[in-house]
Amino acid sequence: MAMPLEVPVAKAILYALLPILIACYFLLRKGKTYVNLPPMVEKGYSNWTGHVRFILAKGDEFGLPWIPNMKKLADSCSNGVMAVYSFGPKWLTRPTYLVKDPVLISSMLTSSKVKRFSNLMEASKATSGDKHITALTGDELKRHRKLLTACILAKRPMARFVELLTAGVCKYLDTLPTPTVGRPLDLNLAKSKAVGILVVEAFSNFSFGINISCHSEDPVDVERCKKLHSALQFMFKVTGERLVAGPLNFFLKRDIWTNYKLWKLGTFIRREFILPALHQRKEDMSSGVQVPDDAMTMMLESGDTDDAPFSEEEICDEGMVMVQAGYEATAYTFLWLVYHLGQHPEHQELCFKEIREVLSKHPPGSHLTSSDIEELTHLHCVISESMRMQSINDSAAARDTDVDLELGPYTIPAGSTILAVGKCNSLSEESFENADQFKPERWKNDPTGGAKRPGAVNIPFGLGQYRCFGQPLALVALRTLAAVWIQRYRFELLSEDIERTYHATCSPGNLPIRMFPRCVS
Ligand code: HEM
Repeated sequence: MAMPLEVPVAKAILYALLPILIACYFLLRKGKTYVNLPPMVEKGYSNWTGHVRFILAKGDEFGLPWIPNMKKLADSCSNGVMAVYSFGPKWLTRPTYLVKDPVLISSMLTSSKVKRFSNLMEASKATSGDKHITALTGDELKRHRKLLTACILAKRPMARFVELLTAGVCKYLDTLPTPTVGRPLDLNLAKSKAVGILVVEAFSNFSFGINISCHSEDPVDVERCKKLHSALQFMFKVTGERLVAGPLNFFLKRDIWTNYKLWKLGTFIRREFILPALHQRKEDMSSGVQVPDDAMTMMLESGDTDDAPFSEEEICDEGMVMVQAGYEATAYTFLWLVYHLGQHPEHQELCFKEIREVLSKHPPGSHLTSSDIEELTHLHCVISESMRMQSINDSAAARDTDVDLELGPYTIPAGSTILAVGKCNSLSEESFENADQFKPERWKNDPTGGAKRPGAVNIPFGLGQYRCFGQPLALVALRTLAAVWIQRYRFELLSEDIERTYHATCSPGNLPIRMFPRCVS
């Protein structure tokens, strides 16, 4: 009679065999054969180390180790699509492909086969809950997009947003000392974080319905404002880290301590700020008190015959996303705008002239309204050109695919991540004439900016069904910030030497300017 194996012996055999079994699995598994797989960026690619090693080794040349400068990387390859990295098995990371050909970018982003970038969904769920536009799919996503469009992109909330932002910039500019002979007004806009703070205040006021300011006279208010700001900063930092494609993400999203901190900060923002404001607003609305036309009021009034109104949880989650998605992108884009206007004082003057003309229709001392902002056509061109020259994202858009995706002559295998490298095209001579020169005129009466070739040559807000939801709000914010600033100050760049800082997005790490108050006649 055969003796049964002792359990410890069986275990020992199994453990000894395990590495062999795993090795056999990887050696013998038959992958699908792809006829036209995009080429790797450099020879010597291995499925195990991939181009993570390549990017790390060339960290200095291509940017920070974990956020490679994709434009340089893409420029170094002549193909329209290239593979960048795949680091071992799929449970660890998705193989990643860069697409740089504008026609292929356009067909990738508008394809119904691609899905939202899973890193974005997971990162935004960890910070903002799962009942919001960046976490949802299918019919629920359609419902949220439709209701939110009416809640924040309509005339009334936009006008309220312009009001809030104007008040914020004026309040900040009022705190600046008056320059005197020998004591010029010098600021380092990137280091001072002032723009970030005033934008986050305007967004929080608009989305959470709270009125707090770091420039308040009340120290309790200032303390609360600082706490909110640092909580949002932490969330933004974590989102940025988790957006990066690659194997590190596998470990980052399982970081228990950070996840706990995110949950605590999210709960803090909801309990301390959003929910009290929401309950107060509900009470005011039911007792007939006049309430502002901000996102919170509009979300409470949302819903129509086809779609149920937003629940409290949805209002909280959407508010969190709006602030997070909006404030840093808007603040950094504004800093780049200041940089370009500092380099081109002639355009500052043209913008000032048009602002004065628009304001001359109102009684002296009036602020610009949202319909005035629409009339600032030269400023619009300047903003478009600034965003073409320096988009805050190397990769304008990222998507995942769960099915094989045909892109021109290439096949992107199912289970991959695809990044569109927008900067390659917006700064290329093949796309724009004198592409390296700042020429706002190219946008005059031409929404393509005189693009020389078809496809997605300039997509600072992405493209397709997952494009930036807040684009109209972002443009209004940039126009308002710039208009109030230019109306009150002329500014010069004190140094052209601007190092770039990469977090989730690219911002100037250093932006020293000298401000000269304008004589308002
Ligand atoms: C100048 C400022 C901004 C820039 C440059 C910017 C840029 C972008 C880009 C490139 C994307 C990815 C698009 C894609 O994958 O196709 C995006 C997504 C998004 N943006 Fe913005 N954005 C800005 C401001 C805002 C604002 C103010 C809001 C808030 C209302 C916002 C909300 C969103 C949301 C919700 C998404 C995710 C959309 C989705 O996945 O369905 N953005 N943004």
